[in-house]
Amino acid sequence: MSAVIEAVNLTHLYGEKTLFETAAIKNIDLAVENGEFLGIIGHTGSGKSTLIQHFNGLLKPTTGKILLDGKDIAESKESIRAARFKVGLCFQYPEYQLFEETVYKDIAFGPKNMGLDDDETDRRVRRAARFVGLSDSYLKKSPFDLSGGEKRRAAIAGVIAMEPEALILDEPAAGLDPRGRDMILSFIKEYRQETGRTVILVSHSMDDIAKLATKVLVMNKGEVAMIGTVDEIFSRSEELFKMGLNVPQVTKIFLGLKEKGVPVRTDIYTNEQGCRELLRVFGRSVKE
Ligand SMILES: Nc1ncnc2c1ncn2[C@@H]1O[C@H](COP(=O)(O)OP(=O)(O)OP(=O)(O)O)[C@@H](O)[C@H]1O
Ligand SMILES: [Mg+2]
Repeated sequence: MSAVIEAVNLTHLYGEKTLFETAAIKNIDLAVENGEFLGIIGHTGSGKSTLIQHFNGLLKPTTGKILLDGKDIAESKESIRAARFKVGLCFQYPEYQLFEETVYKDIAFGPKNMGLDDDETDRRVRRAARFVGLSDSYLKKSPFDLSGGEKRRAAIAGVIAMEPEALILDEPAAGLDPRGRDMILSFIKEYRQETGRTVILVSHSMDDIAKLATKVLVMNKGEVAMIGTVDEIFSRSEELFKMGLNVPQVTKIFLGLKEKGVPVRTDIYTNEQGCRELLRVFGRSVKE
């Protein structure tokens, strides 16, 4: 595997040389491998959004650099522009960025900006809309007539339509009802399975991260606190608790059972693993 995005000694100060100077991220070194599903977790204010906004050149490093496919994105104006398309970034609450008169035009905004012709743009708009579960009838509607979840999906479709090498989603399910959340998470999973492309997901939900990610990055006070596989990270529950973070719900249950003396494994991070473990320990009696 090769790295698609690398951060090299990356630091970002907000309000540099003012009274309000904040080091949002500090000396970060990180490599995101091609095809990886990276989950990013961390307490509020730990620097997650600041970090990912460097990956497509939206924020400039105070010091350090970002490499895309091995090349410094700040090399030239063209390389910064190319980064916007190579790395598709979907912000927290992306629906606030919908502004066109139709959903179609909103989704087409990115591809048009890339200079694609009408036919290619049309193909991409329809494909992206279908991907997020919006049928053709939605394309003529005003984005303001959509429900919260539909708006969110339209905004994400606009990013997917650019067919970026890496797709970054900052809390894509935040504030949605359970049905809206499930839809978003299931198409993110499908997107990765179908395209095999790199996905980066920032989330406060340990359950979602455990279900989807192949690697987990834990941010703490602007620094990389841990990075590793789902097992490597969520087996360090004590350290996560100390950072004000959590483990998946199901892991908590198994940690609790173990504490009560039930002989279960505690390296359980998804509901499927939990079911299997219950069957192993309690055998048929659970099934019946
Ligand atoms: N535009 C800004 N101007 C000044 N300070 C900022 C700005 N954006 C973020 N910060 C500060 O930088 C730090 C990191 O913020 P950031 O938004 O990256 O955290 P986060 O991990 O994404 O948090 P959350 O989970 O709440 O989204 C915080 O201390 C925050 O107050
Ligand atoms: Mg954030």
